[in-house]
Amino acid sequence: MKIASEAGLAAGEGVHYSPAMSRELERAAEILRSGGIVAFPTETVYGLGADATNAAAVRRVFEVKGRPPTNPCIVHVADEQVARRFVLHWPSAATRLVERFWPGPLTLVLAKTGAIAPEVTAGLPTVGLRAPDHPLTLELLRRFDGPLVGPSANRSTHLSPTMAQHVREELGDTVDMILDGGACRVGIESTVLDLSGEEPTILRPGVVLPEQIEQVIGPVRIRPAVVDPGQPASSPGQHPVHYAPQTPTYRYESGQTDLLVSWCAAHPDKRAIVLRIGAAPVFANLQQIQMPFTAGEYARKMYAALREADRQSAAAIWIEMPPDQPQWLAVRDRLIRASRRPAG
Ligand code: TXA
Ligand code: MG
Repeated sequence: MKIASEAGLAAGEGVHYSPAMSRELERAAEILRSGGIVAFPTETVYGLGADATNAAAVRRVFEVKGRPPTNPCIVHVADEQVARRFVLHWPSAATRLVERFWPGPLTLVLAKTGAIAPEVTAGLPTVGLRAPDHPLTLELLRRFDGPLVGPSANRSTHLSPTMAQHVREELGDTVDMILDGGACRVGIESTVLDLSGEEPTILRPGVVLPEQIEQVIGPVRIRPAVVDPGQPASSPGQHPVHYAPQTPTYRYESGQTDLLVSWCAAHPDKRAIVLRIGAAPVFANLQQIQMPFTAGEYARKMYAALREADRQSAAAIWIEMPPDQPQWLAVRDRLIRASRRPAG
């Protein structure tokens, strides 16, 4: 799998912006310099950008998202050189990973310097950093010349946005500007890898797979996907319900269609929607959304499909889970957080 931009669009390398786009980027950088909020495109999902060294701007991002102050945000940088300014110790493993995966969907958690506002990291001594693989945002980061917080541009616990329109619908005028960079190519949030401890640990799965990281730095640990609901979560991605539709959402493994059949039969006056991969049972009260068969395609369409299902005001959304195989790790992780197992 190729992670880096297919077009090889690195910041400033042969990318020409129209005068109109160049003015937009300048306006965005100006808003950020004066402590404002700009939603920006990345290859994964849209981010909510603010100057990571400006505590007041960062607090506004938390307010707009409705995010608890105990949940750390990741920080976006143009490249390794900028990232190094904000970490106490940059290990050689980080350089090797960055050579292979940046710009791209890999976030590295490292011990931070005091320049990053404490609000960004919820008081933690570490910061998550990544260079996003989107030509507009790389150019914005270059012009801004600093670190930008970039939690996903949605209200806390809601579905992540993969189009500018999703951000507009959900956040509207509460942000100062939305930079429209089209539909996100990857579609789910970056892999988060903690390099600050003894053992490299994946905190959140993404399209950069554990074995791809292991090829570069050797063994990594994978933190269990969902913590016990009774335990405090150290970060938002750890909460069992996250990235979730408003409609009650249930999941079933592909061998368990009987669960869906029972629901449809028991609720003839209620409507449900199923996101299916294989065949789903046919019921008059069940609308079907066909999902892609491959993990990459599925990831790209997942949040938009969940949003579409959520808009239908159905009584329930059902999700047929993709197979429990390594390439589906991140998709299954997000689907598990978006749903629950039906009772009984
Ligand atoms: O793909 C992405 O990562 C997107 C795009 C916009 O770049 N951003 C994103 O950010 O998903 P956010 O803030 O919604 O999620 C950040 C995740 C948290 O769930 C948490 O697990 C982890 O990164 N995280 C951030 N800082 C951390 C830290 N210092 N220690 C441990 N985990 C951290
Ligand atoms: Mg998020």
